[in-house]
Amino acid sequence: MPEDTQPRILAFFCNWCTYTAADLAGVSRMKYAATSRVVRVMCSGRIDPQFVLSAFAKGADGVLIGGCHPGDCHYISGNTKCLRRHRLLKRMLADMGIEPERLRLEWISASEGDRVKTVINEMTADLKRLGPLKLPERCVAWDVEAIDEEPDHAEAVAKEAVHA
Ligand code: FES
Repeated sequence: MPEDTQPRILAFFCNWCTYTAADLAGVSRMKYAATSRVVRVMCSGRIDPQFVLSAFAKGADGVLIGGCHPGDCHYISGNTKCLRRHRLLKRMLADMGIEPERLRLEWISASEGDRVKTVINEMTADLKRLGPLKLPERCVAWDVEAIDEEPDHAEAVAKEAVHA
């Protein structure tokens, strides 16, 4: 990736922890790469695998998920579900020919604004090293609108890609 080209990171942050930490980083005027766009979700357990597939299909170079530390989830087990989905997605991405490092999961509490800064800077450097995401040929044919509208379709697309 050329020096002046910035990767695009879509970040899904839990409202109760990482989103607040990102807010804290901003209020504290911490400087970090302007490479992320944040989507606030009420819990990391809300992040459906289709959100991640759709982000990559629509041009994200990386997807970052931020949730509450284990044991701190406001909905008890949302982050445990997120962790399971993250592991599955990593394997699926590798099978599809997409570098699994493009997806990152971090537990960041509301007081850890500096951690948000560090993680985004690290991920930006990693994505620069990997270069822009080039979707493998079989993924270019993904029907993005259908992925968004039909959760079952996303699963079917993922299975098809893994078994292709
Ligand atoms: S409420 Fe933050 S991960 Fe569940």
